[in-house]
Amino acid sequence: MTAIQPKMSACPAEVQTACDYQSYARERLMPSVWRYLQDGAGDGACLRVNTQAFEAAKLMPRPLADVRGGNTRICLFNQELTHPILLAPVAYQCLFSPDGECASAMAAAAQDGLMAVSSLASQTLEQIADAAESPQWFQLYWQGDRDRTARIVARALAAGYSAVMFTVDAPVKQAAIVLPPDITAVNLERPLAMPKLSSGRSLVFDGWMSQAPTWQDVQWLRDRISCPLLIKGILHADDAARAFDLGCDGVVVSNHGGRVLDGAPAGLDCLPAVVNAAAGRGPVLLDSGVRNGGDVFKALSLGASAVLIGRPYIWGLATAGALGVAHVIRLMRDELEMTMALTGCANIETLHLLA
Ligand code: FNR
Repeated sequence: MTAIQPKMSACPAEVQTACDYQSYARERLMPSVWRYLQDGAGDGACLRVNTQAFEAAKLMPRPLADVRGGNTRICLFNQELTHPILLAPVAYQCLFSPDGECASAMAAAAQDGLMAVSSLASQTLEQIADAAESPQWFQLYWQGDRDRTARIVARALAAGYSAVMFTVDAPVKQAAIVLPPDITAVNLERPLAMPKLSSGRSLVFDGWMSQAPTWQDVQWLRDRISCPLLIKGILHADDAARAFDLGCDGVVVSNHGGRVLDGAPAGLDCLPAVVNAAAGRGPVLLDSGVRNGGDVFKALSLGASAVLIGRPYIWGLATAGALGVAHVIRLMRDELEMTMALTGCANIETLHLLA
């Protein structure tokens, strides 16, 4: 067995792009933690479709455009951001670094960006908000019933989180790792007891799914909170339209990084239809498979307002804590700027005109 390498106190000089962090991260994580991070559902086909979709999308060079003074600025829900690369909610970040979610949130804020903090965070929502020193977003998992869900949302809003990202694509999800005793979902109440099943009842339909949210719960949540509400885990255009019809402010096109439904399509392939269904009613964000600035460009040119990255920033976190996360974001932003320059786009609005 190879020894676990210590965290680095500086970013490795050899790293040129986010994916270069993978080997450094792997050397610094227990094999079970590495598998938890990397694995997709089933045999990993869904993971592969994500990267294949990005590879298949091509970039057209447009030389000689005057892009002096260009920038990557965007505005989401009245918040100005200097770039469109957000950190996706990733559970239990103390598994990857003792600095946990606080380090990622600090790095996002230091890079003038945003992080969506998971319901399954391993540090308290208040600690993470303090570390970031600027409003982040809260990612909500349904807590089995409305009272419990209302309590965690109220706590997040009281701690200063400025938007709620409600993840709806993973209602039946078993923990894919046995957590060490010192790492837990510290913000959650004790799990609801599963209903007792009489014989002949289904564990899925009558057990797990009896505690899963429905569209009525989305409506309930929408009526309850006044901050921006985004629905994460949308791939079908009709679902995007329904979310906006119910008054939601945005959607995140995502197959959860290929971790839930084996056989689901790539987010990138579903994006144009979702953007069409959104019909300008709010931002459409995308994650799953974004690995470099060229991928960010491809998603934005198909109509995404911003992207989220998952595994790539965790590779940075596992290697060098907050510094590593900040470096991953910076690398992707530099690559995005370079791609924009080579394709003749001086700003994100011009890039959106390609959609
Ligand atoms: C996730 N993801 C996730 N999503 C969410 O809404 N809440 C969560 O707690 C988690 N936890 C989580 C843990 C780990 C280890 C991974 C890798 C992912 C999904 C995440 O937000 C995002 O959708 C994907 O990670 C994006 O795909 P890439 O960038 O990892 O390919």
